[in-house]
Amino acid sequence: MSRLILVSNRVSTPKARGDEVSQGGLAVALSAALRETGGIWFGWSGETIETFSGEINRQSADGVTIATVDLEPQDVDEYYNGYANRTLWPLFHYRIDLAEFDLQFGAGYERVNDRFAATVAPLIEPDDIIWVHDYHLIPLGQRLRRKGLRNPMGFFLHIPWPPYRLMTALPFHRRLVESILEYDVIGFQTSEWLDSFRHYLVTEMGLKIDGDILVYRGRRIKLGAYPIGIDGAQLDRMVTTHNAQEAFKTVRRSAPNQKTVIGVDRLDYSKGLIERFQGYRYFLEHYPDWHSKVFLLQIAPPSRGEVHTYEDIRKQLDELSGRINGAFAHVDWVPIRYVNQAYPRDGLTGFYRASDVALVTPLRDGMNLVAKEFVAAQDPEDPGVLILSKFAGAAEAMGRALLVNPHSKEQISKALERALTMPLSERRDRWEALNDVVRKEDVTAWRDTFLADLRQAEDKLFFATPP
Ligand code: G6P
Repeated sequence: MSRLILVSNRVSTPKARGDEVSQGGLAVALSAALRETGGIWFGWSGETIETFSGEINRQSADGVTIATVDLEPQDVDEYYNGYANRTLWPLFHYRIDLAEFDLQFGAGYERVNDRFAATVAPLIEPDDIIWVHDYHLIPLGQRLRRKGLRNPMGFFLHIPWPPYRLMTALPFHRRLVESILEYDVIGFQTSEWLDSFRHYLVTEMGLKIDGDILVYRGRRIKLGAYPIGIDGAQLDRMVTTHNAQEAFKTVRRSAPNQKTVIGVDRLDYSKGLIERFQGYRYFLEHYPDWHSKVFLLQIAPPSRGEVHTYEDIRKQLDELSGRINGAFAHVDWVPIRYVNQAYPRDGLTGFYRASDVALVTPLRDGMNLVAKEFVAAQDPEDPGVLILSKFAGAAEAMGRALLVNPHSKEQISKALERALTMPLSERRDRWEALNDVVRKEDVTAWRDTFLADLRQAEDKLFFATPP
């Protein structure tokens, strides 16, 4: 079987097999595929160096080789904090108001993609297949092709693809999209993001798509939706660990007569945290009987702190949580426990299991795995209720959750009341349906379906790029 080369901005550093706390399901599934083919995972080391050298830091553990490269501080500013997280991230999450269009960012993005290509190309052999991940590295495939590489190359976008009209607000959008078309397989999380991409190709570029195959400059490109999932068996193991059990007890003991509503999100404006807190406040205003009987546990570890929009949202949330607590708290009850700390993954599963309701209400999200982990961590005899944003990719297959418009405080409030009073039989019914989806559309299915299509590109579909 041909060797797999993975490329992503962040790599998961090798851990002893079975170290489930520090490696997420995604990293474990990808590492397993690498191990099977003796492959390499390449990305940024997370470190900076004064002058870029292209020197590779190599680590091998448990049959997986990790190769990383250091970037210059200017690279990190312009490529990671700049084009990736101040231009593409907000725009692709429908936040054109937060997107910054700066030529320097674009130049840095292209420079780093060139640097990645120059560094990884010598590691690639003619029979390898290459799988590139996420918005940081869209043009990487094109840069590798320019170096003469003819290998099958796939790209998977973990975040939404924006609607056509939003995409055209990006200066030089066409240049970015044309670079994507150098891959042989292009994958999205959901059919909604895939449709937006197809719409762009048809409307902006006048291309014709036959089923899921786009013929472009004599090459056949497969377009697909590959919903990412969790590793159910890993989650089942984590929820039984000591850490998970302690976390479970901590929540239950801390408020024995209260229901727990949980939210777990990176502190990001796309996650709808302000709107969630406002929805919860509206609930407290309209259902005063619930005072002292429920609390919201919001875990939100800070993220991308060098980007000012992230500093802004953090300040707003500090203020809003303080205001809500100030307005409603009693001596023996605090309505929101707002925690900026990160927890080990197994501990989180204990929090999920101890909770009666999860509020997963992003304004936009490529998929959202918290929704899936919450479901998988429940006690089948007495499962909690998932309140899920219609605008999370996860909603496409999780219609038995209580779906809400995350912008509507009324809908969040009503859904909370409904979830907290839902009879056990309905809870079980909904949970079983959701759990079936979560277990079926798991991370292994995601990986294997994508790789099968990529290998097909190798066998049947792929025609070398004309010179
Ligand atoms: C999202 C992106 C990932 C990214 C992660 C954490 O899930 O799709 O590519 O790694 O957020 O963000 P960070 O900027 O810390 O890598």
